[in-house]
Amino acid sequence: MAGRLIIISNRIPTNEHLSGGLVVALHDALACTDAVWIGAHPDPGDNIEELEELIGSKYQKFAFRLTEEEIQNYYLGYANSVIWPLCHRRGDLVDMRSEYQSAYLKVNARIARLVATQLEPDDIIWAHDYHFLPLAAGMRELGVKNRIGFFLHIPFPALGDLSVLSKPETFAADLAQFDLIGLQTRSDVARCLEMFRADPRAEFLPDGSVKFNDRVTSVRSFPIGIDTAGFASEACHAGLPVFGRETPEEYIIGVDRLDYSKGLPNRFRAFSKYLETRPLGRKPCLVQIAPPTRQQVRAYQDITRELEEIAGHVNGTFAELDWTPVRYIHRSVPRARLARLYRQAKACLVTSLADGMNLVAKEYIAAQNPDDPGVLILSRFAGVAEDMTEALLINPYDIEDIAKAIAIAMDMPLSERKERHAASLRIVEATDVSTWSKNFLRVLKERPISVDFSRYF
Ligand code: ADP
Ligand code: F6P
Repeated sequence: MAGRLIIISNRIPTNEHLSGGLVVALHDALACTDAVWIGAHPDPGDNIEELEELIGSKYQKFAFRLTEEEIQNYYLGYANSVIWPLCHRRGDLVDMRSEYQSAYLKVNARIARLVATQLEPDDIIWAHDYHFLPLAAGMRELGVKNRIGFFLHIPFPALGDLSVLSKPETFAADLAQFDLIGLQTRSDVARCLEMFRADPRAEFLPDGSVKFNDRVTSVRSFPIGIDTAGFASEACHAGLPVFGRETPEEYIIGVDRLDYSKGLPNRFRAFSKYLETRPLGRKPCLVQIAPPTRQQVRAYQDITRELEEIAGHVNGTFAELDWTPVRYIHRSVPRARLARLYRQAKACLVTSLADGMNLVAKEYIAAQNPDDPGVLILSRFAGVAEDMTEALLINPYDIEDIAKAIAIAMDMPLSERKERHAASLRIVEATDVSTWSKNFLRVLKERPISVDFSRYF
């Protein structure tokens, strides 16, 4: 088969309860293409030299296996205990070990080999996220000349923070092997260009692209989005009450993987502060849906424990026989139900301390009834805040600031809610997930290679 689009990411969807921005976005973006998606099998295995076809999707899916040890050292280790904290400004959580780095390089070299052996000259490759920074370098070593694009779903690290790595100079060299580096925001692009500017091996060409040794790469922002119309229509579907008999009178919603980058402890503390000063008789709930993620990593165990303690404390302080202020749900929720939960919520809290984009913010806006919308309280440190300036912007490090925003949101007049929502919805619509993938592939296509892209749309 010639001219295929080959997507590579660590995570691939395995059931309908999608959680995590990358999987949700790509699942929606690929729904109407004939792309091939390659990712890690959810179960470890020793038959690591093969790709296995997974059936049951609208698109073709193949999985590579990771051994138990590779899951430990490549996925939980280098990807999630070194690069993730580095990119989320948590240098204090970086756990640098030589076995992590060697597993990361070994897995990338293997995936490069597995994919390279399947390639036709006109195929284009689109690698996703921080699990695959050296993938193009591995493929180039094998002589692959195909277009290879890369999209980083998480924040691009600051130049100074890269010094946390044992060989910071390889970060730029590896990225330069991709033909196109896609980032979430304009600030991410600025940080990436700053990295190249500081590197004597890099030279800027008149069109803004970067010549690095013998290759030329482009750096552009492509803000990721959601299937806006699809999500909005799920949200207004009639159905059984989402809470059953225990429907709270009014609630604020939070939906996040249980990650330390999401600022959940301050969110709970701010809600508690709001409860101290709320108008008499008001009994709002904070419905927090937070499925566990990367639980074998110490920092994730710590945040899980910390949050349980704070939730217990808030409920211990304020709960009444007919009122549980914090409803903390530690698992995934089907997307249709999630959409309806968003629609009925008076407000949504996004308190990320650092976040590539944050799709939850876009989902909440898309799910609202435009005639009576809720209020999005949004961290200035989420990528989405770069454009969604009409949300109620907060500093997630400042508990009082969040608590004040909750009070404002709970009593915001309808006219202001409508204005803010309409402005935010325009941003969500302009960055729809299909626009995101089309724009990325269009720019990749502008590179001199003869691929018939029309078949992907
Ligand atoms: P991240 O990529 O860091 O997880 P995003 O906010 O960009 O953060 O994306 C999270 C995605 O995962 C959203 O589409 C959200 O709806 C989904 N999600 C998060 N938690 C749950 C959950 N408990 N149940 C279902 N979907 C979830
Ligand atoms: O969107 C950011 C991201 O890190 C994705 O790369 C990843 O798929 C998702 O969050 C969830 O993380 P994980 O795949 O480790 O469960």
